[in-house]
Amino acid sequence: MSGELAILMEGVFCQLGKKLVLNGVDLFVRKGEILAVVGLSGTGKSTLLKVIAGLVPFQKGRVSIFGCDLNDCSEEQINLVRQHMGFVFQSGALFDWMTVAENVAFPLRVSDKGLTEFEIMNRVRKLLEAVGMEGTENLLPEQLSGGMKKRVAIARALAAQPDLVLYDEPTSGLDPVMVGIINELIKRMRDQFGVTEVVVTHDLDSALKFADRIAMLHDGRIIAEASPEEFIRLSNPMVQQFVRGDAFGPLTEFLDRL
Ligand SMILES: Nc1ncnc2c1ncn2[C@@H]1O[C@H](COP(=O)(O)OP(=O)(O)O)[C@@H](O)[C@H]1O
Ligand SMILES: [Mg+2]
Repeated sequence: MSGELAILMEGVFCQLGKKLVLNGVDLFVRKGEILAVVGLSGTGKSTLLKVIAGLVPFQKGRVSIFGCDLNDCSEEQINLVRQHMGFVFQSGALFDWMTVAENVAFPLRVSDKGLTEFEIMNRVRKLLEAVGMEGTENLLPEQLSGGMKKRVAIARALAAQPDLVLYDEPTSGLDPVMVGIINELIKRMRDQFGVTEVVVTHDLDSALKFADRIAMLHDGRIIAEASPEEFIRLSNPMVQQFVRGDAFGPLTEFLDRL
């Protein structure tokens, strides 16, 4: 089974400052799968992605990426795994002093793939075409709309041909058509290139469209996990509240105290 897995997390605890953010996370992602991680704001979704990416340390448990156990692997092996990973940050953060083309070229320049300038620019052009951003090479991020920035961020995350892409709220703050475009891109990356994708989002409608499986995080734990069809029918009252978008329920007990 483990050979089939891209990610395996077992009993992962992560404390940041005084806050226990991940409180025993168990989660797996199959190779070539699109997993959506949903949940309310502040439940630890971004932290979960950062632990997978090795950007945030964890204190207890096991995290294994493509068979490399982050506790046991050498720095060298972990770096190798990281080279096969792309990250689309929540803010769609681009380097604001670099043009669109240089942003997308960045992972190619820092990797030691030994590409020529011609090859790099060729790949940048193809990546920008793939996200519908051809012709924007020489623009600066400040000249782009939110949806355009996200698409450039996705092109950059895909530049080094990763096997695993982590997306943090890729559709937040976008208009409905742009949300549709990003959802389509996420699906296409897996369908065309077999990329494994983990998409953190509080947008359940999007998750239902692109995910093979949906996991719900609450209070630092995975409380439910199912296919989209099954997820919306789960009887777990927390899932039901999330699916219905009810103000009152077990996810928001604090409301009763107001
Ligand atoms: N570096 C940090 N130090 C202390 N608390 C943090 C830190 N990062 C996040 N938190 C807290 O951890 C909780 C989960 O954060 P986050 O993972 O960003 O949740 P989500 O992405 O689901 O909104 C929040 O309460 C947040 O305030
Ligand atoms: Mg977040």
